[in-house]
Formats: sequence, structure tokens, C-alpha cells
Amino acid sequence: MAQTPRLQVDHVSCDFDGRVVVRDVSLQVAPGEIMCLLGPSGCGKSTTLRVIAGVERQNAGRILVDGQVMSDDRDHRPPEARGIGLMFQDFALFPHLSVAQNVSFGLTGPKTEKSARVTELLERVDLAGYGQKSPHMLSGGEQQRVALARALAPRPKVMLMDEPFSGLDNRLRDGIRDETLQLLKEEGTAVLLVTHEPEEAMRMADQIALMRDGQIVQQGAPYNIYNAPCDQAAAAFFSDVNVIRGRVEGALTDTAFGQFLAPGYPDGSDVEIIFRPQHVKIDFDRGGRGPNPTAVDGVPARGVVERARFMGHESLVEFRMDFNQEVLRATVPAVFLPKPGTPLWLTVRRDRCFVFPHRG
Ligand SMILES: Nc1ncnc2c1ncn2[C@@H]1O[C@H](COP(=O)(O)OP(=O)(O)OP(=O)(O)O)[C@@H](O)[C@H]1O
Ligand SMILES: [Mg+2]
Repeated sequence: MAQTPRLQVDHVSCDFDGRVVVRDVSLQVAPGEIMCLLGPSGCGKSTTLRVIAGVERQNAGRILVDGQVMSDDRDHRPPEARGIGLMFQDFALFPHLSVAQNVSFGLTGPKTEKSARVTELLERVDLAGYGQKSPHMLSGGEQQRVALARALAPRPKVMLMDEPFSGLDNRLRDGIRDETLQLLKEEGTAVLLVTHEPEEAMRMADQIALMRDGQIVQQGAPYNIYNAPCDQAAAAFFSDVNVIRGRVEGALTDTAFGQFLAPGYPDGSDVEIIFRPQHVKIDFDRGGRGPNPTAVDGVPARGVVERARFMGHESLVEFRMDFNQEVLRATVPAVFLPKPGTPLWLTVRRDRCFVFPHRG
């Protein structure tokens, strides 16, 4: 990164009573960039955010904002001196304060300046004229926007958000999160947003940091994480996956779908070939034969439809494969509901297959 990152986290670890919860986490977020910290429940996402905010102290590593050390072995600035805004799932507004008082809560300086900033922010979150209302008079989505205005009011350089949209219903959520992120980008804020939903991360992030057992196992643009996962679990975190097994001979493995490259694997080692249901192509049976093999799709393998379900935006078809009697799944972005027992031929986009060691 050429410019100084707005937020820089270097080799941060945190343990509770000897149990390591965050392990050697490093990441950088540029101004106006949105990074999603994505991982299963309990993997250490919230703790990472709390350490960066300064409400929890790390055991090792350092945290910088705009190149300035906020916390390392020697120094530890308190949360309010870090230029970091926080927004959590339960974005509790102060119930006894008006909307305007909530928004101006973290502001210092002359009264007229504060009041101008409050008016500006309420306009930006589409709540102009709501200043004198009480939080309980607002809907969930409106309260969420007040919380956002409150967090943005002191112009934080970094915004930490912990599942801030999960309390909203689906219809509200898409609109609010797109508007929120737009606003944060315009302000040049670096955003680190925690979620355990891959779809949410894919939708919002410029960068995804995939976390597991306290560690970041992979970092990159959503496209790269999805299409070049670092291991089986990373692949399976984003969608259902198909798995077939193979044995390596001369850096190749032979399967019913043809040969796959397995560079770096010793002869005789067992590997798993992983691919997503949407990368499986279905062809009709032509008198006991499938389509001709191609460089892109490899060799076809025959399966018999076990069941087919309509999922709304796609159809999911399950096949019992002739070659090993195991089940593979394919999705088709259309209505496609072949009868159980129908023989069909499957091919797999070779550039969408991942070869990993067999987990044993
Ligand atoms: N203050 C604490 N003292 C002891 N253990 C803690 C503390 N805070 C968190 N933990 C433990 O650290 C682990 C990670 O917790 P954390 O809240 O960071 O997970 P998370 O990834 O945010 O999960 P979720 O998606 O469920 O919110 C958990 O096992 C949790 O029990
Ligand atoms: Mg959490």
C-alpha cells in the first residue's frame, strides 16, 4: 500500500487467562476502504475489534492510526484518544436524551458548531427534522441511522462495526448498509466491519480477512477469496462444496472427471478435489454418451438424478454418481427439475476446481 494506512494492526495477540483468543493478527485498512473480518462464531472477531478500540489490551503487537502508535508494548492510549468510532449490534442510544443530544454526545467545542454538525449529520442520514424526538419514537432502522450519525459526529478516522446490521429486517438492511457504507467512504473513514455472513462480506467488502481460531487464515478481495480459497474450510465457508478424492501420480491425479494438476504433491498422496455446485455443468444423455471432453470442462461423468428442488433464484439437483455411488450437487440458474432416476452427464469447470490434501 503506497499511502499510509489509516488503520494498521501489526502482529496483535490477545489471551484470556492463558487461552489465546487472537493470534498474531495483522491487517491494514486504507482511507475509504472497507475490510470485513469474517469468520464463524467464537473465532475472535469481536475481541479483535475490542483490542483495536482499546477497551481490551493486547498481549503483543501494536496498533497504529495514520502512522501514529495507539498501543504497543509501552504505550496504551485510552479508547477516546484513538480517533476510532464504534458501532455495535446493540447500538444502544441514550433513551433519556433526544436524537440531537445523542448525536452531539461525543462532540466538543462551541455550541453553534456542535449544533451545525448535528444538523448536517441528521440530513446525511435522512433524518432532518428528527432532532427533538426521543429514541423510542423511532423505528429500528431510524435508530440505527441515529447511531451511525452519533458514531460519525466526531469525524473518526477509523470506524469499527460489529455486526451493526444484524438487528434489522432483510428489507431495511440492504438499503441501510449500502447508504451507510457510501457515507463512510465519502468521509474517507477506514472501516473494519465484523460479520459471520459470507454474503454480507461479499456484498460490502473491498477486502475480506477470513478468521478462524483467532487467526487470519486468508486476506484479499472477495473475488480472490471466493475463487482461490486457501484450504477446504475456506472454500466451504462461502458455499456448499462437492468433494471427490484422488491419488497423485507424477503431479497429476486421475478422476472420473479427467486429470487434474497436483503440483507439489508426492506420488501416492491422497488429495481432495473441491468444487462448488454452480460450477458443475449438466448435459443430456445421448444414447449412453455425454458431451465430448474439452480443455475447459474436462471429461464428463454420468450420474442419476436423486432429487431436484426449486430454490427461487436457482434449481438444486442432486446426483448419485456412477463412478463411486456418492452424491454430487449442481445448481442451475433457472427452473430445471429433472425426474429422479434420469441419467445425466456432469462436467466441472476445471479452473474452478481446487486441489487440497486429503484430510484423512
Ligand atoms: N473477556 C473475556 N474473557 C474470557 N474469554 C473471553 C472474553 N471475551 C471473549 N472471550 C472468549 O474468546 C473467544 C472469542 O470471542 P469473540 O467474542 O471474540 O468471538 P466472535 O468471533 O466475535 O464470535 P461471535 O460471532 O459469536 O460474536 C470466545 O471463546 C469467548 O468465549
Ligand atoms: Mg462477536
